[in-house]
Parts: sequence; C-alpha cells; structure tokens
Amino acid sequence: MSAPFSDFASLAALHRELEEQFLQHQDALLDLDLSLAAERLERYEAALRLHLEAEEALLLPVFSRAERIRGASPELFTGEHQRLLEFLARFRSELRALEPGSPGLKRGVLRLLDAETTFKHLSHHHELREETYFFPALDRVTDAAERRELLAAFTARVTR
Ligand SMILES: [Fe+2]
Ligand SMILES: [Fe+2]
Repeated sequence: MSAPFSDFASLAALHRELEEQFLQHQDALLDLDLSLAAERLERYEAALRLHLEAEEALLLPVFSRAERIRGASPELFTGEHQRLLEFLARFRSELRALEPGSPGLKRGVLRLLDAETTFKHLSHHHELREETYFFPALDRVTDAAERRELLAAFTARVTR
C-alpha cells in the first residue's frame, strides 16, 4: 500500500492498485483458472467495498462543503458506487455458473470478459471524475491538520 498520503490528490494511487487487482483476476480468467479467478475477484470486491465505503463515510461529507460541480455531485458518485457493486455481484454468479472443462467454457469466459469491459469503462470514468474534481476539491476545502487526520482515517479504513 502506497501510504502515507500527503494530500487527497495522491489517493489516485489507490485507484491504480485496485485496477491492478482486477487485472489479476482477468489474468486468471484468461488462463481458465476459475477458482483463482473467483478468489481474486472476491479479494478485489472486498478491497473495492472498503474504498467505496470509506469515501462515502469520510470524504463525501467533506466534499459537500465545496461548491457544486456539474458532473461530480456526491449523489452521482454514490450512484456509481452502487452500480459498480451490482456489476460485481453479477460477475460473481456468472463465474460460479462456469464449469471447468466443459465444451462451452471458452465462450462463457469471453462473455464474462465482455461484461467486465463495460465495468472497467464505468470504473475508469468514475475514478477519473474523482481524480479531476473530488480529490482536488477535498484538498481545497481542508486545512493541513484536517487533511492529515482525514487521510489517516481513510488509510486505516481501506487497509484493515
Ligand atoms: Fe468512488
Ligand atoms: Fe475512489
């Protein structure tokens, strides 16, 4: 984990780490190693959940102090968090339905990878909006002491 963070803008590094975890799940899918793919998907989902929950509990309340930014409202971010988790629930069950060694396995894996591409786009746009508007706004509306405190609390939550 790339902590400690000196400002909110550097939380972008956590997005890169999450992306890498998801790619590792996809690596296992390409190898048709279904149990490893499932294990990595589960690990990714747990990490993402901590990230989203920490943003909602600790950061969004502070963000609402900033001026409203079109295309980056707190409701938009929480709505996207919801959609991301819905996607993951679907992947989990689609992955469970795949049978190792069955004749339709490769097609099933391709179908899953296609759906995951849509997820990666959504996730990418979400992260980009956070890095462009959300994190810089947090740096603007906090002073050094509050920033340090919030970043420490955030880091503690996402690494537990
Ligand atoms: Fe988020
Ligand atoms: Fe985020």
